[in-house]
Amino acid sequence: LNHLVPATREKILEILINGLQRLEYKGYDSAGLALEEFDGDKKGSIKIIKQVGKVSDLATQAKASLDLGQSFVSHVGLAHTRWATHGQPSICNAHPQRSDTENEFVIVHNGTITNYKDIKAFLIQRDYKFESETDTEVVVKLIKFMYDTHENKKPAFSEIIELTVAQLEGAFAIVVISKHYPGELVATSRGSPLIVGVKSKSKLNADHFPVLNSKDMAAFFRGSYRRKDEGLQYHPIGPQKEIEYFFTSDPSCVIEYTNQVIYLEENDIASVQGGVLDIHRGSRSLDDESTYREVCTLKMELEQIMKGNYSSFLQKEIFEQPESVVNTMRGRVNFDTKEVVLGGLKEHIREIRRCRRLLFIAAGTSYHSAIATRQVLEELTELPVMVELSSDFMDRKMPVFRDDVVFFISQSGETADTLQALRYCKQRGSLIVGITNEVGSSISRESVCGVHLNAGPEMGVASTKTYTSNIISLVMFALVMCDDRYSMRQRRNEIIEGLRVLPDQIRTVLALDEKMSCIAEKLHTKKSVLVMARGYNYATCLEGALKFKELTNIHSEGILGGELKHGPLALIDQAMPVLMVCMRDKVFPKSINALEQVKARKGEPILLCTEGDTETQSLVNSYIEVPQTIDCLQSLLTVIPLQMLSLHMARLRNLDTDRPRHLLKTYTS
Ligand code: G6P
Repeated sequence: LNHLVPATREKILEILINGLQRLEYKGYDSAGLALEEFDGDKKGSIKIIKQVGKVSDLATQAKASLDLGQSFVSHVGLAHTRWATHGQPSICNAHPQRSDTENEFVIVHNGTITNYKDIKAFLIQRDYKFESETDTEVVVKLIKFMYDTHENKKPAFSEIIELTVAQLEGAFAIVVISKHYPGELVATSRGSPLIVGVKSKSKLNADHFPVLNSKDMAAFFRGSYRRKDEGLQYHPIGPQKEIEYFFTSDPSCVIEYTNQVIYLEENDIASVQGGVLDIHRGSRSLDDESTYREVCTLKMELEQIMKGNYSSFLQKEIFEQPESVVNTMRGRVNFDTKEVVLGGLKEHIREIRRCRRLLFIAAGTSYHSAIATRQVLEELTELPVMVELSSDFMDRKMPVFRDDVVFFISQSGETADTLQALRYCKQRGSLIVGITNEVGSSISRESVCGVHLNAGPEMGVASTKTYTSNIISLVMFALVMCDDRYSMRQRRNEIIEGLRVLPDQIRTVLALDEKMSCIAEKLHTKKSVLVMARGYNYATCLEGALKFKELTNIHSEGILGGELKHGPLALIDQAMPVLMVCMRDKVFPKSINALEQVKARKGEPILLCTEGDTETQSLVNSYIEVPQTIDCLQSLLTVIPLQMLSLHMARLRNLDTDRPRHLLKTYTS
């Protein structure tokens, strides 16, 4: 907050707690906040309150221990939810972390500092005492060390932070406040997202915020800064009574206050001092140019991130799929002229057509979407296609080349393994294509070109609607790649027709909800569920099994029908629940063969089969009818019943469907 904006303690607390609650969907184990308490003489202290467990518990504790009506001259507060990476979930490991018992410097941090052990040893030798097991505490103690070493002339707050981060390795986004610098705040990041929201009653007149390099910045403060570039006029934002600042890793925390944001880039040092925001390049930045950051307008609406009438985000997101797939195709597929245009890729399609191979790199559900489309990508691009898990790709440090085109698929656009893989491929000169749902995410910013899913915010930890939108995006890409091929025209037209009727077919599948609830009654007490299919529906097995694991905590395995005899058959008996996909597609005879094998071992599979296929239905006691579509879109319809089934099973098991235990929405470190 800006110190010029009058605010009570209650108001500041409300903003901090609201922000944390917007992040609850991501999963966390502890939370904390810090508030400055300075009087007119700028004397006072920083108060820290932390709690293990829910944000609402933190709010209760804060309200009980603070005088809410009080106002202070300084209006700076920090808040953080933590997911343990270094050290157990505990109050002392929760953030904010502090430099000492006097709370001289207080920090919140996202990311992981890889060289924290060395720094910790250095500080322990110099008698710094540690109270937590976190890497974060090392950072805040190093800040104090930097401050203490400047005995006489104390440097500016942002300079101390700059000196500190120059020593850090790894990924971080940090925000720091200090007793020695009341009313000030410094934030910086490397490899971890950080956004500055600017709330102003009048529209900001800057759509480009100037960012000076360290040298120019110093010159500016000395009054000797000369513009090299006519366009670069240094007008920091503020101080004005109506301006407030919000620093966050996630836009959903600030959207209810402002939609004007600046995405900080790596090594940007942002600070607020005397109600003025300025951003400059840290001395470690490689591109040491004075430049601009765009002031972006977030398109996200608050109600979009609310649950609406649904009982959970997961349910909302599953049932939103008829609309989310349309949003992914909107303005891209012309169903009359059969044209498909992907604006974010247009300029690069010729280059992509000439490449050596296509690589698709992703994690979790996003990875399954690449498996779901591999076959149609191979068919329509006529290029070798490789699909890789980001973590494994980085473990293997696979050879990639300048003439490779590498797609990074990520709902959040922030998954650390995927982002690392992106940077690895970028260094080797491959063309980087991003497929994400988060405009402005690291992956979308660091890609050369790409496709935004436009599926709307996905709050449930388990991905559902972004899975189907990923598939649509990749199919659209395959269609674009072959739009100059006469021989493929017929096939293209059939797929485009399939896309046209898809939203209605999804509605038909969603009408199976009642039926899925009955099947859930039978399955929710089981220890294990096997999901089998082959061909295009193999991805449905993998994704269905992942939904069961994530949401119901029941063991589940997705098995390729062709592998049945190579081991999984040994698991089959009357007691083992098996779901089998047996659609009328190219692999139908083989799927029936697998069904017979399972039945011969006394298995009683529940079938996902083609609507109206009475012949197949007569082979089993229980079946789910799914509308038939073109082969490459079929898995998109067969996965939805499994999404619904896992939701019902999780509910019957009294589990939190939006925040499954032990899991996070996004792993940024
Ligand atoms: C986490 C989430 C999954 C998601 C995966 C990849 O594990 O719980 O739902 O599929 O990350 O995330 P991304 O944002 O890169 O698609």
